[in-house]
Amino acid sequence: MGKTVGFGVIGCGVIAPWHTQSLLSVPEARLVAVCDVVPEKADRLAADSGGVKAYYDHNHLLADPEVDAVCVCVPSGLHSAVGVDACKAGKHVLSEKPIDVTLEHIDALVAAAAVSKVNLGCIFQRRTQKLWQTVRQTIQSGKIGKLLLADAYLKYYRSQEYYDCAGWRGTWELDGGGALMNQGVHCVDLMRWICGDPVSVFARCGHFARNIEVEDTAVAVVTYASGAVGVIEGTTSVYKGMEHRLEFHGETGNILIEGARIVRWETNDGSEPPDDLYTVRGEASANPVDIGLDNHTAQIQDFARSILDGRAPLVTGEEARGSVELILGIYQSDQTGSVVHFPLT
Ligand SMILES: NC(=O)c1ccc[n+]([C@@H]2O[C@H](COP(=O)([O-])OP(=O)(O)OC[C@H]3O[C@@H](n4cnc5c(N)ncnc54)[C@H](O)[C@@H]3O)[C@@H](O)[C@H]2O)c1
Repeated sequence: MGKTVGFGVIGCGVIAPWHTQSLLSVPEARLVAVCDVVPEKADRLAADSGGVKAYYDHNHLLADPEVDAVCVCVPSGLHSAVGVDACKAGKHVLSEKPIDVTLEHIDALVAAAAVSKVNLGCIFQRRTQKLWQTVRQTIQSGKIGKLLLADAYLKYYRSQEYYDCAGWRGTWELDGGGALMNQGVHCVDLMRWICGDPVSVFARCGHFARNIEVEDTAVAVVTYASGAVGVIEGTTSVYKGMEHRLEFHGETGNILIEGARIVRWETNDGSEPPDDLYTVRGEASANPVDIGLDNHTAQIQDFARSILDGRAPLVTGEEARGSVELILGIYQSDQTGSVVHFPLT
């Protein structure tokens, strides 16, 4: 057997099994330990993962010499604090999305990884999908001409019980935002990855249906550096939730995606989309765990390989910062009632 990377998973809540199961199946990785501040959660996940070690303090897991890298699965506003400790212990860090919820925290984490010369990555599992890679490559290679309009409609459903079941959800401090920072961040990342950097945004946000600090609804008009404009609408209160729609219109073509299905594909070379792009998952529009395992596994495998190969991972810390910056710009515009320009200062 070739060399493998020893992993610890910090945070044993809803998303942690996607990491442990992936780590048990990726040949380049070895699941060594899990950790949660709630001992029963760590013990249960350790037992469910073949009896790996359980820790109740992440610093104890970080002191384990068998651990080379960690998956950070704690609430979003703690990603940087835990990640910086991991960097200082010389461990590579793969954070769940969003990489953190403030630019100060993210910059501290990126700097700590650079100082310790460890890899820093962030889970944006949709970037591993051939569908989104093909959409991006098609648009960026000019096959729909100059990009004019790019819209993201992210109309999801999360009940009040969802927010109430873990104290950090829906709070500014630990969730960092709502419909956009938590649920919408995946597609905001895709928009920035596909359309390029934004230059300005004007937005209106609010919590109209849920008893939470952060927004359950946001509507933003974004202008990209390429000259394209478009809207980002995000909500967690649409009845039953809908599959998200991402719509790209160029001077000579259109690409429209609903969930993970292509509903319109018109390019200037008349090409058909590859027929192996379709997936059947629900993309978590109404159920947060309806996300499949394959994309997490692909990204975790890439992260393990990036360590073994001494290269950058698929989604670096700097890359993951972009979606948080765009969302924070949307919040700032709502709070000030003004157009906000990027980069944020
Ligand atoms: N990629 C995806 O599709 C996806 C899906 C769901 C959640 N997430 C992300 O995963 C993260 C966790 O979300 P969740 O739904 O699993 O939350 P959760 O509340 O179910 O789990 C978080 C766990 O972290 C533990 N914890 C808190 N502080 C800790 C610490 N210092 N050390 C160890 N454990 C600690 C808590 O006790 C809890 O068990 C969030 O950032 C969220 O955005 C990503």
